[in-house]
Amino acid sequence: MPNIVIVGALFGDEGKGKIVDILTENADYVARFQGGHNAGHTVEIGSEQFILHLIPSGILRENAVAVIGNGVVIDPAALLKEIELLENQKIKVAGRLIVSTHAHVIFPYHQLLDELREDKKGSKKIGTTKRGIGPAYADKVARTGIRMIDLMNKSIFREKLQHNLEEKNTILKSVYNVSPLSVDKLFNEYCEYAERLSQYVKNVPLILNEAILKGKNVLFEGAQGTMLDVDFGTYPYVTSSNPTAGGACIGTGVAPSCIDEVIGVTKAYSTRVGEGPFPTEFFGDFAEWFRQEAKEYGATTGRPRRCGWFDAVLMRYSVLINRLDSIAITKLDVLDGLKTIKICTAYKYKGTTIEAFPGDAEVITQCEPIYEELSGWQTPTSHIRSYEELPKKAKAYIQRLLDLTGVRLKILSVGPKREETIILDA
Ligand code: IMP
Repeated sequence: MPNIVIVGALFGDEGKGKIVDILTENADYVARFQGGHNAGHTVEIGSEQFILHLIPSGILRENAVAVIGNGVVIDPAALLKEIELLENQKIKVAGRLIVSTHAHVIFPYHQLLDELREDKKGSKKIGTTKRGIGPAYADKVARTGIRMIDLMNKSIFREKLQHNLEEKNTILKSVYNVSPLSVDKLFNEYCEYAERLSQYVKNVPLILNEAILKGKNVLFEGAQGTMLDVDFGTYPYVTSSNPTAGGACIGTGVAPSCIDEVIGVTKAYSTRVGEGPFPTEFFGDFAEWFRQEAKEYGATTGRPRRCGWFDAVLMRYSVLINRLDSIAITKLDVLDGLKTIKICTAYKYKGTTIEAFPGDAEVITQCEPIYEELSGWQTPTSHIRSYEELPKKAKAYIQRLLDLTGVRLKILSVGPKREETIILDA
């Protein structure tokens, strides 16, 4: 199997967990390269449901080693809880999980600042998951972050924590009027985490590159999605990392020349959680009805997701930025009952027609979608296992999405279960 990068094509929550799980059947390593426990990947196997936030979905297949790369920010308490939950569900983690020495650690002051900053922003808030993701990445870039390797050395850890808390406590007190955090308490708590996590902390770039040189393959698992990329998304309504394909290299230490294929995952429609522009968004009764039918509630925060029609403008941009070789379309079955289905083909902006993604969140907010309407197939699809057997109108809808975005279809998901999947070319 080649080395494949899986990315969220649009706003995240596309069902990457399931697609990664399917492709992991033949993978040696599955590596997460960005984000943190803001992500939520749901995988259903038989009657069991697994919700993963930090650990790559690859952990669910015995053949694969799960890797958390340097590009990920780690809340050790969340990671330990996830390990425990998996082990309770009879998934072996010890010896099968590797955490990068270079991954940055999330502390309670990151989480606090995330929450306080959001509250202070009022109507201008980003709608973050309040998990401390942004502030942890900010410290990484400001070169004041604490990495997993630092946690393993008590004297270095104490010195860095002390230094950080001096500044954070001043901010907490003087800007937000919040009580300072205790160095001793945090130090002791995190030393305990460090002890429990030390068995997993390893040199990821060395391990992955040696494995690739020996002919092993790596599946790179993105979290969130292209439109939430801190550089290429709807800034500032984005997450603080690079969920786009390039992030796979930076977030693991594997070079672009080692990547053979990039697959984008998208739903057959669109969703977004949090604030920010979303041109094809549904409103009113239909929005509420659709959300419930589609069970569109966040796996991490439980927040209702905003739902909308498929947006070919955003998808074309995603194909370009990620150089997608193919796409996986998920949740086609959600559209089974609809009489008509719309696709956004372009935007109207100040009287002109735009076909390319405008880039600026302000401009996108003022764009009006131009729709093409197709008739629905109004028949169930979840039991179908080959593309040919799909209703004619479902095939016409999918083909139109592909024609409008210039990309090839690789996988089609017609339900949450592993077997509810059509693979077009292996
Ligand atoms: P943060 O990543 O918690 O800082 O949140 C920034 C933005 O990314 C917010 O709009 C979140 O709702 C969104 N976001 C973060 N993680 C996910 C995810 O896994 N799926 C979808 N949206 C996400």
